Amino acid sequence: MAVILGIESSCDETAAAVVVDGWRVLAERVASQAADFATWGGVVPELAARGHVDQLPGIALAVLAEAGLIPTDLEAVAVTARPGLIGSLLCGLTSAKVFAARLSVPLLAVDHVQAHIAAIRLGERGEDVAYPLVALVASGGHSHYYLCREPGRIEPLGGTIDDAAGEALDKAAATLELGYPGGPRIEVRAASGNPAALDLPRSFLRDDTVRLSFAGLKTSLLYRVRGPQGKDALRLDDVGLADACASFQGAVIDCLLAKLALAADRCDCRHVAITGGVANNGALRRAAAELAAARSWTLHLPAPVHCGDNAAMVAALGELMLRRGEVADLGVQASPTGSAPAPCGAIRGRCSHRS
Ligand code: KG4
Ligand code: ZN
Repeated sequence: MAVILGIESSCDETAAAVVVDGWRVLAERVASQAADFATWGGVVPELAARGHVDQLPGIALAVLAEAGLIPTDLEAVAVTARPGLIGSLLCGLTSAKVFAARLSVPLLAVDHVQAHIAAIRLGERGEDVAYPLVALVASGGHSHYYLCREPGRIEPLGGTIDDAAGEALDKAAATLELGYPGGPRIEVRAASGNPAALDLPRSFLRDDTVRLSFAGLKTSLLYRVRGPQGKDALRLDDVGLADACASFQGAVIDCLLAKLALAADRCDCRHVAITGGVANNGALRRAAAELAAARSWTLHLPAPVHCGDNAAMVAALGELMLRRGEVADLGVQASPTGSAPAPCGAIRGRCSHRS
């Protein structure tokens, strides 16, 4: 039995969790600074780092207490070491190093994007997830597709060439004066809107590349609601606002799912996963479930609490790394960039994998 403390602080969520064997969550907490950043319209890196300094020690000790454990019960500490905001990462990594050194337990330096995918292990026996699978990570910083031949290993298949899906939703919400974070606010308004009301572009939708682009969609919305220069005052009634939200959200979902289908076809893979903060979106989850039923996919959608940034997913990946002996030394550095290689030839060609 491996009892692991997970720590996540790559952006504006400070999180800690105690997870057993990579799937059973004993306790977890996520303290989000999103409300603090609503007035700024986005994350201010320096403030986010200071927020982590305030929150981290209390949250880590609180999850241990909630799990009914004391620090010496821990067998390892897993922490997000990359990618993310460097100041934010350093807070979590430094705390994790202190725990690991003080307790003489292994330190596991986790990649945040891979951890989002490892979230599919939580709440069910990780061994029951079938591989290989194709995973979409759709968050504020990423919208990429990966082939996972085995747990904890990823190969990039393609993704966005400009904005991430969450970033596009956040910017659309700013255009519509809905505040930050945009994804959930757009989802609420979209619920009563007509997704066909605005004819918005869907870049690359019908081509044969695993590519996304949301820049044109974002600009198109801006011109539609704020005039040809994008500078007019917003004049939408509640119905117009709901329609704009539903149309924008619908376009994002169409693109994300079309390329998921393409990526799965390319790899002859019937096991698929969608993770990351955008996977919280109810309309996306419903559309993905319909697509999965139509294509006889096994679809893995983490519980909403494990889609956005959280520490249980960090411990879930950490447990795989511990089993493989992928232990970091205390000199490990935080990095703003990820560990997965850049998407390569697989974007257009077929995958070498056949299931
Ligand atoms: O994974 P995450 O918590 O942090 C990053 O690693 O980026 O994702 C945050 C992103 C934000 O852009 C936010 O607007 C989006 O996820 N998001 C949503 C929803 N909840 C969060 N997007 C659409 N619908 C939601 N319900
Ligand atoms: Zn994330």
